[in-house]
Amino acid sequence: MKPIRRVFVVGGASTPFIGKGHPDFIWKGHAEFGKRENPTLEGHLTAAIEAALAATGVAAAEVERGYIGNFAGECFSNQGHMGAMAVRANPAFNRKPFYRLEAACASGGVAFTSAVDALQAGVDVALVAGAEVQTTVSPREGADFLARASHYALERGLDDFTFPAMFARRWKAYSEAFGATEAELGHVSFKAYDNASKNPLAHMKNSKRTLAWAQGAGDDNPRFLKNESLRDFLKVSDCSQVSDGGSAMIIATEAGLVRLGKRPSDCVELLAYGVATSPLAGVEDYTRLDNTASAASEALRHAGISPKDIGLLEVHDCFAINEWLMLEALGLADRGQAKQLTLSGATAIDGKLPVNTGGGLIGFGHPVGATGVKQLLEVWRQMKGQCGAYQVPTLPNIGVTANMGGDDRTSVATVLKNVG
Ligand code: CAA
Repeated sequence: MKPIRRVFVVGGASTPFIGKGHPDFIWKGHAEFGKRENPTLEGHLTAAIEAALAATGVAAAEVERGYIGNFAGECFSNQGHMGAMAVRANPAFNRKPFYRLEAACASGGVAFTSAVDALQAGVDVALVAGAEVQTTVSPREGADFLARASHYALERGLDDFTFPAMFARRWKAYSEAFGATEAELGHVSFKAYDNASKNPLAHMKNSKRTLAWAQGAGDDNPRFLKNESLRDFLKVSDCSQVSDGGSAMIIATEAGLVRLGKRPSDCVELLAYGVATSPLAGVEDYTRLDNTASAASEALRHAGISPKDIGLLEVHDCFAINEWLMLEALGLADRGQAKQLTLSGATAIDGKLPVNTGGGLIGFGHPVGATGVKQLLEVWRQMKGQCGAYQVPTLPNIGVTANMGGDDRTSVATVLKNVG
């Protein structure tokens, strides 16, 4: 979809993404255990919205509608109806239309595209936010909740950790088809942890990991699947984090910018987006992301750009292999060849095609409903030179995000341009 009315990302903010391994996350061994609680789902959502309003200087009264991404509030926090929950963040939101959008891990992405659609229909200023809390239960119990993003009746039995097993299945197929090795794939996770170490908001900011750690299983990097045929194809370092957090942003039309006293040059413009949805349990080839390829080609075509124009990428590395699958789905590498981009250093912060500079889902973390919003904000922050220790050397002109729900079942791709 190419916007008929121009759409600008004005700015926004993310909370720190926290969970096991983050110094502020309260757990049994933490010095403040019993004295302080971790933020709730409402806490993360409210903090993100307040921070987005503060960062942009936008008065809450200017926001006409709210679009909130959240996947599993009912499961992890006994809480649904997140549109009305977000309205609690500011009295000026009262009685405005606020919606909750759900598309598994693409909830944040569809919250954004739904808000863009509203701008096409006449709205001038909208809030887009996403939040998730997943640490209220153990990762094993949480894996059962996350499995609701698959076809639960048909796919839950794959493993106690259904999604990790689905991507072990993809890595098995890919490595067998193209001869890629676990040592090569380890570079993806190592980059994620290394980038996260430069990012104050990242879940894994203090987790110093070596390349060798990410390249093979060990006592501190176990293979944890029970499924015998998939067990050898996944270890902890290949996985995104079970994170809590929130992200929020303001988007506006040209008329909205005038009302907010903003210039287009303060903003990033959305050139186009693509959304594709495929049937649950319908993956035809584990070595490809057909649905993401569809969303991406729509977005690039409507934006009038080709893959070689892309200067920055935020892709959905829910598991390490997915970073390569995404690069191939976006047309940046031939099938089986994405590893060359990683191994050559092209995807590093100072490479020719920086990918997931803040650490991605593996290093920054993956509070499911927030992720798609956070990806867009990361592109905005890089384009506006706001990324501090992980700032890319040259401000990118064109950035692309690819956010994915389930096993490539809902995909959202956006093309953003830095308005100079
Ligand atoms: N040796 C052997 N096994 C071990 C072990 C060791 N040293 N340490 C742990 N394990 C095993 C155990 O079986 C353990 O489970 P139990 O304690 O219940 O028996 C299991 O590994 C997990 O261990 P932890 O609970 O200590 O795990 P952790 O807190 O370190 O988390 C992780 C690691 C399980 C990989 C977790 O980070 C995870 O689940 N990540 C993936 C999250 C995920 O799937 N997100 C969704 C992505 S998919 C997507 O984005 C699309 C969508 O729409 C859903």
